[in-house]
Amino acid sequence: MANICNLHDASTTEGEILRRHTSFRIGGPAQYFCRPSGIVEFIDAVRRCRRGGIPLRVLGRGTNLLVSDSGVPHAVIATRQVHGITANGATISACCGDSLPRVVSFAAQRGLSGLEPLAGIPGSIGGAIRMNAGTRNGCIDRIVQSVTVLTPEDEIAHLGAEQLGFGYRSSALNGLIVLSAGLKLEQSDPERVMNLTREHRAQKAASQPLDENSAGCVFKNPIGGPAGQILDRLGMKGAAEGDAIISTRHANFILNRANAAAADVLALIARARKAALDALGICLELEIEVW
Ligand code: EPU
Repeated sequence: MANICNLHDASTTEGEILRRHTSFRIGGPAQYFCRPSGIVEFIDAVRRCRRGGIPLRVLGRGTNLLVSDSGVPHAVIATRQVHGITANGATISACCGDSLPRVVSFAAQRGLSGLEPLAGIPGSIGGAIRMNAGTRNGCIDRIVQSVTVLTPEDEIAHLGAEQLGFGYRSSALNGLIVLSAGLKLEQSDPERVMNLTREHRAQKAASQPLDENSAGCVFKNPIGGPAGQILDRLGMKGAAEGDAIISTRHANFILNRANAAAADVLALIARARKAALDALGICLELEIEVW
């Protein structure tokens, strides 16, 4: 594998421990770790990896991600510093690395309505769009107007919402790297939007262990009902493997209560899936991404 550090890029290091960059606080080293300081540097890092034949992965805020204990043989490009939120009338433009909570607050302060259901969801704009983040009260697909992406051929393309193939926690963006997005909101009363935003955030905090180390909901909700309810009824709350434990507040959350390994989480995932399959014939599908 070519060495991208030979390209004299000060923003690239070797062996960065990914545990420091995930909300699970789990994950081994990345072969290379790049922290581009803006959109131009980000595009440049992607292009350099591709030119050098170095497999790459883009890391947002690491909030929906389980990274293997042995790490990844990739260049991991972190978007955290690729940020910049602006408003033009009722349209907000945000970069891939902007934090979703920050964009939600930015909109609320200006009385721009549409993002309220996403209050309390962590992560980056790029990740939120790729996964179509949301709740049953609304997902980000409802307000995405356009997305600027980097194609596998290293070209910049602008896609309309109808080209993004949004589904439940999915999009057709695989292979395309989100650079920025335009979100179409509605001008409303700031106090009303702020109150609604607070309400949605409080609702989530009341039922989910938001202060613990986790990656949010582990499984997608199957046709048979909410995964959390299914696992709860099967008595899975409190089940543990090493330091990984199924939350006693919400059974679709696995928590890292101290020094859980990815292997512990995977063993717990396997137990939960087996329980749902054996008892109900339900095949639980992962919602989190596994590297
Ligand atoms: N429930 C239980 N026991 C549990 C958990 C839930 O009985 O341990 C019951 C609840 O009482 C409720 C039903 O299951 O009647 C649904 O629970 P909840 O309202 O918590 O919603 P959910 O379907 O489990 C979904 C999303 C969440 C999102 C919430 C809020 C998925 C997989 N999860 O959870 O998203 O925050 O709705 O609208 O779609 C995430 O994507 O990471 C995530 C957490």
